[in-house]
Amino acid sequence: MKKVLVTGGLGYIGSHTVVSLQHAGYEVLVVDDLSNAELSVLDGIEAITGVKPDFQKLDLRVKADLEDYFKWNSFDGIIHFAASKAVAESVENPLLYYENNLHSLVYLLQQCNKHSLSNFIFSSSCTVYGEPDELPITEDAPVKNALSPYGNTKQISEEIIFDTCAAGDLRSISLRYFNPIGAHDSAEIGELPKGTPQNLVPFITQTAAGIRKELSVFGNDYPTPDGSCIRDYIHVMDLAEAHVVALERLMNNQNEESYEVFNLGTGKGSSVLEVVKAFENVTGKELNYKLVDRRPGDVTAVYADIRKANEKLGWTAKRSMDEALASAWQWEKKIRGLS
Ligand code: UD1
Repeated sequence: MKKVLVTGGLGYIGSHTVVSLQHAGYEVLVVDDLSNAELSVLDGIEAITGVKPDFQKLDLRVKADLEDYFKWNSFDGIIHFAASKAVAESVENPLLYYENNLHSLVYLLQQCNKHSLSNFIFSSSCTVYGEPDELPITEDAPVKNALSPYGNTKQISEEIIFDTCAAGDLRSISLRYFNPIGAHDSAEIGELPKGTPQNLVPFITQTAAGIRKELSVFGNDYPTPDGSCIRDYIHVMDLAEAHVVALERLMNNQNEESYEVFNLGTGKGSSVLEVVKAFENVTGKELNYKLVDRRPGDVTAVYADIRKANEKLGWTAKRSMDEALASAWQWEKKIRGLS
């Protein structure tokens, strides 16, 4: 059985990817510092796959602990999710983001070099494109000035990995996610935002569950058909499966360059108001929402050109927006004890 290390494996996308890896026949080792994840996620994973992954609480910034971990464990591949991801928090506390997201990456890559581990998947974001000049966005689109320290850490991380690949034996794929939503169908795992959700879908499901009074739709005067922003919402399980495919591309030496990037989206843009309507249709619940001012830093429209992932990874998103919203709602109901 091939072994895969998943850093941040108890987080939202990480935990769904652990499930996909286990289903594909991999032995998964998880490290997570539990700064934004619950230990109980391990039970959720076990409830789905029947296997509790090997887990160690580890802060990747503590170099000695990381060295120790690599001394006693070996892997055929690494998927690196562990990072801070709240855009607003990164504006308030940039050094936390630069330290957490960049130190941990550098230390991890040092261990890869030291132990001759060469298959490395990195969790990147469409945020690297900023406000795009052309839609849909291809991987060749210019990387724009980052809109937040969080976004900047993704850009710098990609550069660090590129340089490390160029200088040695590392082979890596950066996956640029568009907007992940939804949960595993079983409702055993899903998104667990800390405090008030910043992202659209968890805010919608919490509003429907009565935890938030109303959803604020940020902006109704964007140059889009209904005036609200457009994003490419992708089911988190489609995203999870893409990680397995990308890792296998490296393991099977199918990569064309030592460093590659792929967009992971559906290729379809949906407006905020379309998401709200879809949620109402799928769940039969009327959502309390109001139109408010734009949120600073939001770009008008973002959706992926998915041809590269399709052609080279042989991957395409299979699940619909309705399935994603239904699963997000099932998950919200489960964790709130609603029927
Ligand atoms: C942001 C980040 C992205 C990050 C992602 C997940 C940027 C440009 N994008 O994406 O890098 O990976 O979060 O953490 O920094 N909305 C509302 N009301 C709400 C919440 C959101 O109307 O209460 C709207 C937003 O204005 C936006 C859309 O919903 O148009 C999606 O917002 P969100 O889920 O926060 O994701 P992004 O901002 O696209």
